[in-house]
Amino acid sequence: MISNDFLLMTGRSNPKLAFAVGKILKKEVCEPISVFSDGEIRVRIKNNMRRRHVYIIQPTSPRPNDAIMELILMIDAARRGSASEIIAIIPYFGYARQDRKEMSRVPISAAAVASMIEYAGANRILTIDIHSEQQEGFAKCPWDNIYGSYSLLPEIKKKKLTNLVVASPDKGGVVRATGYARLLSAEGIAIVYKERDLDISNKSQALSMVGNVKDKNVLVVDDMLDTGGTLLSAADFIKSRGAKSVRAAVTHGLFSGEALDKVDKSAVDEVIVTDTVTLREEVIKHPKTTVVSVAPLLSSAIKHIESGESLSSDLILKPSETQ
Ligand code: R5P
Repeated sequence: MISNDFLLMTGRSNPKLAFAVGKILKKEVCEPISVFSDGEIRVRIKNNMRRRHVYIIQPTSPRPNDAIMELILMIDAARRGSASEIIAIIPYFGYARQDRKEMSRVPISAAAVASMIEYAGANRILTIDIHSEQQEGFAKCPWDNIYGSYSLLPEIKKKKLTNLVVASPDKGGVVRATGYARLLSAEGIAIVYKERDLDISNKSQALSMVGNVKDKNVLVVDDMLDTGGTLLSAADFIKSRGAKSVRAAVTHGLFSGEALDKVDKSAVDEVIVTDTVTLREEVIKHPKTTVVSVAPLLSSAIKHIESGESLSSDLILKPSETQ
């Protein structure tokens, strides 16, 4: 049994997704954000929140800094409005890639952002495919991370790909690729080795590969496509090694900078992506992209939280647990 007495709220980061969740749950979605003339964000929640659970749906990208500020102010308003539990649903968690000190004198930005969200008053954080799962330890409150594979797999299975090999575009994604390979009964996996220039943000290049992709249908899986450098150079590399087709499945489609042009020019046949972040019309309409929604996944997660059911039940397909 799920209580109907919870409030759904959205900032300006991905209202379309929040309304899709509201439609499934048959709930209104409160939009409390406006902007003062000097650019300051104003939050005014008109609904009563006393002793109610408040779910705030706000991916923190695009415009990560504005999105984080909106989220923090909505949480603060809900806490001061006596909400009994505030659940920050952050389908895409911006700054998550800055999750460690990979060189001297840098911040751990993901930890700093998580602290701000918790300090504002979030009692629970829910993310989809957080960049590294250890980040759940950056907050003391419960942090549930669920998986975009739940939404992506049905679309991938529709393709009925034979001689399938699942590839990771870098060594960090091997666990994910192995999980997808098992869930899709693939013939094997391939791992592309990339080199990154630490002095230049978002610059990487595929250099070599482990695995056989010749005459195979290959599915490259990753948590995100940002500039597209990682995924598309891996796709091109795989194609140059004789793959029959190369598709990609990614959870977060940031498509920043020249990413869409790169998709155009790349050997990739299709990019299947979810709507965790707002996708530009040109991305949605691009002939090589297919968009699947995470709204059913988030709605199920909310129902599970409201009814006290386990989130790690068979509802949530966790690639790393399939090994
Ligand atoms: C890297 O560790 C991530 O999983 C992604 O592969 C990467 O951040 C994607 O960024 P871009 O599309 O700019 O290469």
